[in-house]
Amino acid sequence: MATQDELKQQVAKAAIEYVKGGIIGVGTGSTANFFIDELAKVKDRIDGAVASSEATAQRLRGHGIKVFDLNDVDGMEIYVDGADEITEKLHMLKGGGGALTREKIVAACAKDFICICDQTKLVPVLGKFPLPVEVIPMAREYVARELVKLGGQPKLRDFTTDNGNVILDVHGLTITDPVALESRINEIVGVVTNGLFASRPANVLLLATADGVKTLT
Ligand code: 5RP
Repeated sequence: MATQDELKQQVAKAAIEYVKGGIIGVGTGSTANFFIDELAKVKDRIDGAVASSEATAQRLRGHGIKVFDLNDVDGMEIYVDGADEITEKLHMLKGGGGALTREKIVAACAKDFICICDQTKLVPVLGKFPLPVEVIPMAREYVARELVKLGGQPKLRDFTTDNGNVILDVHGLTITDPVALESRINEIVGVVTNGLFASRPANVLLLATADGVKTLT
């Protein structure tokens, strides 16, 4: 039976079919890293990439792929990234790697979000994986109190984001209405972004299973 890493590699390879040229938006994490390694094999087909984190930019450059500043790019056809959880409606919970804000920004500039996951990430309801919330440091305790009022148990991650902020991982949520919760958390003063990608879900989910890569739209 394939290991989780082998499944991640298979789905990363499958995503290359969506790479037609131009500039590609690239996510962050172990699945995105496998995608970057596959992208390197077809790098002559593209002009370059926009990275969703410093780590991704470094890996892209290591493969000789040109990294563009998002402000110098007039949109992208696709953004390719993993997720910590995803539903059949293609609502995602992301940010396990702490790159949620830049991921959401780069994804917003792309026509299609191609989500690449192994089968363990498909869930009926989001929230078993703690929901990351990026917060301006001085607002940390205020935001934590507001998140408790929403029924969560926030825990400070020992991590600083690429934007110089902190992350509260919110445990204990059962997210039955991800669109509403995404917008409710964003209303809390001091929140930069939360890891729900629901108001703009993925357009395509490539899901690596024991029976091969399945496509959900
Ligand atoms: C990083 C993310 C990642 O997409 C998410 O954590 C999945 O990571 P992996 O592919 O390593 O399982 O949102 O901020």
